[in-house]
Amino acid sequence: MCGIAGYVGRRRAIEVVFDQLKRLEYRGYDSAGIAFVQENEIQVVKRAGKLSALTSVFGSDSPEVQMAIGHSRWATHGEPNDTNAHPHFDQHEQVAIIHNGIIENYQELKDSLVAEGHRFLSDTDTEVAAHLIGRAYTEGVPLEDAVRKTLARLRGAYALVVVSKREPGKIVVARNASPLVLGVGEGESFLASDIPALLPYTREVIALKDGHMAVLEENQVRIWDFDGTPTPLEIMHIDWDIEAAQKGGYEHFMLKEIHEQPEVVRQCLAGRLDEKNALRLDQVFNETVWNEVERVTLVACGTSYHAGLIGKYLFEQLLRLPTDVFYSSEFRYGDPVLSPRTLAVMISQSGETADTLAALKLCKERRIRTLGIVNVIGSSIARDCDRVLITQAGPEISVASTKAYTAQVLSLMLLVLHVAQVREMPGVHVGDVVRALQQFDGLLARTIETEPEIIKVAEEMQNAPLVFFLGRGIDAAVALEGALKMKEIAYLPTQECPAGEMKHGPLALIEKGVWAVVGSSDAKMRPKLVSNVREIQARGGRVVMIAPESDQTLDSVADVLIKTPSTPYEYLNALLTVPVLQLLAYHTARLRGEEIDQPRNLAKSVTVE
Ligand code: AGP
Repeated sequence: MCGIAGYVGRRRAIEVVFDQLKRLEYRGYDSAGIAFVQENEIQVVKRAGKLSALTSVFGSDSPEVQMAIGHSRWATHGEPNDTNAHPHFDQHEQVAIIHNGIIENYQELKDSLVAEGHRFLSDTDTEVAAHLIGRAYTEGVPLEDAVRKTLARLRGAYALVVVSKREPGKIVVARNASPLVLGVGEGESFLASDIPALLPYTREVIALKDGHMAVLEENQVRIWDFDGTPTPLEIMHIDWDIEAAQKGGYEHFMLKEIHEQPEVVRQCLAGRLDEKNALRLDQVFNETVWNEVERVTLVACGTSYHAGLIGKYLFEQLLRLPTDVFYSSEFRYGDPVLSPRTLAVMISQSGETADTLAALKLCKERRIRTLGIVNVIGSSIARDCDRVLITQAGPEISVASTKAYTAQVLSLMLLVLHVAQVREMPGVHVGDVVRALQQFDGLLARTIETEPEIIKVAEEMQNAPLVFFLGRGIDAAVALEGALKMKEIAYLPTQECPAGEMKHGPLALIEKGVWAVVGSSDAKMRPKLVSNVREIQARGGRVVMIAPESDQTLDSVADVLIKTPSTPYEYLNALLTVPVLQLLAYHTARLRGEEIDQPRNLAKSVTVE
C-alpha cells in the first residue's frame, strides 16, 4: 500500500512531510513525490526510487511553505518511474492529487476525457481523478465541492488527497476502503495513510471512515459524508509507541498481516471484475493463447509452491488442464519436459527468489510462454515474465508469508475463472463463483474471529513432540502450508501428508502426546477422514479438525472442532481453513516465546540458490 502524508500549519511543511514519509518507509514503495504551493503555483517534485532521491533535490534548504502533501508509491498501475509517481496534476495544473488504492473504472473515465481533448502524461488511474477534479473546479467552486462531485463518478478503493493553487491553505481528503488518518494539532493539521506518521506531532487522531471526506486547514478539520452531510469529529488519543504503531497495534507484523487478509481479498479483486460479474484480466494472455495451452507448469518455492498446489487443483478440476507443480530448486536440474503448448507460471511474493528466477531463465531459453504471479511490481520475475498478474497484497513484512499466500491463491482462482470464461467451460458457472468471491472478505473475517478457540488449542499443543498436518484432496495441499508455518515460526517438528498415506508409514509416529491438525473442507472426503482420525486417536494422538459450519458429522469425532464459514465451493472452504492454520502457528510460537517476524535461519527473500 502506498504511503500518504500531508501537513498544513505553522511548521516548515516540506520537512514535516518528508519526515512523515520516512516513518512510512517500512511499508515498502518504489517512488516518492511531494506537492506544495509557492508563489501562487503548485510545485510538484517526484522521483522513482527511494525517498532520498526526492529529498536530495531540496538539500537542507527546503522552501518555507506552510502546506504540503507527499506520497510514496507501491505501484499497481504503471511502472515505477518519475512520470507515474504521485502527485499528479489536472489538465491545467490547478490541482494536484495523491492517491492510494485502485480506481476500477479509470479506463472508461479516461476514454471520455481523451475524447474531450484531455492529454495524459502517465499510465496511472490517479491522473484520471486529477483531471476530473480539475474539470469540476470551476471559478467560485470550493475545492471540496469539486472533489465531492468527482467522487460520485469513481468506483473502487481509494484514499485521495487534493490541493489547489487557488486555496493554498486547504487540503481536501476522501476515503473509500483505503486507510487514511488525520492528526489534530494546535494551529496545525496532519494526514497520513498510517498512524506512525502522526505520532511525533500529535496523538489526537481521527480515523476517517469509508465514504467520508474532510477539509484540513491550520485551525480546523471539518468532515462530511460523500453526500455533503457534516459529521462530528471522533478524535482518539493514541498512546502507542512508534514501533507498535507500525504494526497497527498488533504485537507482530505477522499477526497484523494475518488480520489484514480480508482487506487483501478486496485489493486482490479490485479492478478485475466488471459490473456483470465477469473477469477482466486484460494483463494476461489473449484468447488465442488460452485456447492453445495444453499443459500448465507451476514453479515456485516454499509457501508459493503450496499456493501452486492449489493452482494445480483448480486448473485440473475446473479446466481439465494437465498441470504440474515443481519446486524451483528442482526444476532446472530435472530437464523438464516442456512443449510450445506449455504455459509456465512462476509464483513468487518477492519476485526475486533466485531459484525461481533460474527456472524462469530455463523456460525462456526453451521459448516457453511465461506468466508471473507476483506481489512486488517491478521485481525481476515480474519484469522478465511475458505477462504478470500482480497479487496486490501490499508489502509483506513478516518473513513467514501469510497474506501473500492468500492473494496468490485468489489470483490463481481469478486466472482459472478467466480461462473458464474464455473457453466457456461447461459446468463452471463463473458468475456464481465471482459472487461467492465478492463475499469472501467477510467470510475470512469471520474465520479470523475463531482466534480465541485457536489460542486454546495452541496452549495445549505448544509442547507437543510432533504435530501432523493432514487432509485429503485440496486439504492435503493446504496441510503442507499449515505445517510450514508451524515449522518456520514455532520450530515444532511436523509430519505432513495426505491423510490416506498415514497407514503407509507415518502412522508409526503416532503416540500419546502427538497432535494432528486435519482440514475437512470437502464433504465427499469426510467419511474417509473420520477413519483416519480414529486411527490416530486409537494410538493416543489428539486431533483438531477444521470444517465448514455446514458439517454436522464431526462434532463427536474431533477432540477439538473449529468451524469456518461455508461456501458452495470446496476450494473456497479450503482457503478459509488457512487463517486458522496461520493463527495456530502464530500463537504456538508466541506461547513458546519464539522470535516471530524474523525466525532463525530464514530470510524474507531468498536471493541465493
Ligand atoms: C514462507 O513463509 C517462506 N518465507 C518461504 O517459504 C517463501 O514462501 C519462499 O522463500 C518463496 O518466496 P517468494 O514467494 O518470494 O518467491
